[in-house]
Amino acid sequence: MDKPAKDILIPHDKIAAKIQEIAQEIAVKHRGKDLIVLSVLNGSVLLAADLLRSLWHEGLTDITFDTVCLRSYDIGTEATQRPKLLKDTKVDLKDRHVLIVEDIIDTGRTLTTLLELLRKRQPASLEVFALLSKPSRREATIEADYTGFVIEDLWVEGYGLDTGGKYRGNPDITYRKG
Ligand code: IMP
Ligand code: MG
Repeated sequence: MDKPAKDILIPHDKIAAKIQEIAQEIAVKHRGKDLIVLSVLNGSVLLAADLLRSLWHEGLTDITFDTVCLRSYDIGTEATQRPKLLKDTKVDLKDRHVLIVEDIIDTGRTLTTLLELLRKRQPASLEVFALLSKPSRREATIEADYTGFVIEDLWVEGYGLDTGGKYRGNPDITYRKG
């Protein structure tokens, strides 16, 4: 996989419009609250940056931003069994409103592990925004509170998503045929 995928699944303008739409929804729900946005590294960095700007435009100027990192994939596309927490947040989540930002829900293992872990810290609320969801691959019954696009079982990259660590900078989401 030493070349970026060329076939566009979701062009950047559609991604941008969807983020703006979801930011409006989040703003309606969280206006006046003390929101923490937790970006799941590395895949959601582009999404988190755009979402934060959209939320600012919606009037949510007081957001605390931090990152966590879980690894469920080795180099390449083979899933390992149990996602590991490689980087935690130091922000105290107790009684705070928390929004997890994730690039894609695939099997659901990463998110299940993360939600279990964060619930123990007793946040006032815990929600998930996933840009993409592949429900046909799900192994855990889990869905995001805000989902950008439901996609079929394709390997996608771009807009933060990688293949073997590469191609995250593509503004569009592209795919590889199986
Ligand atoms: P899950 O634990 O199986 O839900 O996997 C979630 C993680 O796997 C995501 O955060 C991505 O990093 C990665 N992933 C799953 N599907 C894809 C894909 O199609 N392209 C790139 N990364 C993916
Ligand atoms: Mg990821």
